Amino acid sequence: MKKYPLIIDCDPGIDDVLAVLVAHSKPEFDIKAICSVSGNVGIDLTTHNARLMAGLLGLDCIIAKGAEKPLIKNVLPATEVHGLDGFGGYSSTFSDDKLSKLSDLSAIEVQRKILMESNEPVYIAATGPLTNIALLLSVHPEVKSKIAAISIMGGGINIGNATPFSEFNYFTDPEAAYIVFNSGVKLMMCGLNVTLKATLTDMELNKMREFHNTISDITVKILSSYAANDAGIHDPCAILAISDTDMFEYKDQYVQIDTRAGITQGMSYVDEIHNLDKKPNCRVFYDIDRESFRKAIVKAINI
Ligand code: RIB
Ligand code: CA
Repeated sequence: MKKYPLIIDCDPGIDDVLAVLVAHSKPEFDIKAICSVSGNVGIDLTTHNARLMAGLLGLDCIIAKGAEKPLIKNVLPATEVHGLDGFGGYSSTFSDDKLSKLSDLSAIEVQRKILMESNEPVYIAATGPLTNIALLLSVHPEVKSKIAAISIMGGGINIGNATPFSEFNYFTDPEAAYIVFNSGVKLMMCGLNVTLKATLTDMELNKMREFHNTISDITVKILSSYAANDAGIHDPCAILAISDTDMFEYKDQYVQIDTRAGITQGMSYVDEIHNLDKKPNCRVFYDIDRESFRKAIVKAINI
């Protein structure tokens, strides 16, 4: 079986947790590291939640702490969607002895080390603001040739959730998104036009309730609070875009990011009518097979 070496850079965050679960459920992924970035909640909480998920799953991978704030803009947490702890309010139900060890190295140092030491290109799934990735590519451009692709949950086509035009991850750190989209690295983008279709129904939640394991029990609890606010289960799409590309429809497009503060802050402009006559810099995902998505989520928690 083809194995995909994978770094997950995330801001857990309930849907980030689902992304880690989906990656863990797929034997084709070799998870090398889970790196935190501030976004849904502050860096200490996203780091804690990354350590907790890795500990509960018994993952043998590095956990590393990343950027505590965006490159330029201010952090605007999404606690109304993910809970004050970023884990739907349930992280305190687990004692700290469940937490995976935290690396002494920063997320950027860990990512550089993994990429430079790998004997094959490594995938990066980025499901939070792109601050860590932008810093990695800026400080260590030598890693670019070592990256198979960066599969991003972020942006969208004429759609937004932070503003009517801008998605949360790009809105939070538009300068980072601009750096990544102008880096020349192979990119894949699952924006809101796809991820808002990535939903679960009561049928899936009822199936999950029947599994009766630690992971399924906590997942049902955190999903029940999450679905009330933000039905799209966004982040697992960035994982599945790597392993299950046939679950999606996509086109290679030229994408540019608006870094101006205000209503278009972080807007991803997808040049669908080739106005700018530029070569494509991103594989933009347009549609997802909902049933296949739902099956993948249910499978991921039937541990
Ligand atoms: O806009 C949705 C994205 O922002 C998801 O990655 C969610 O976890 C938040 O980070
Ligand atoms: Ca996220």
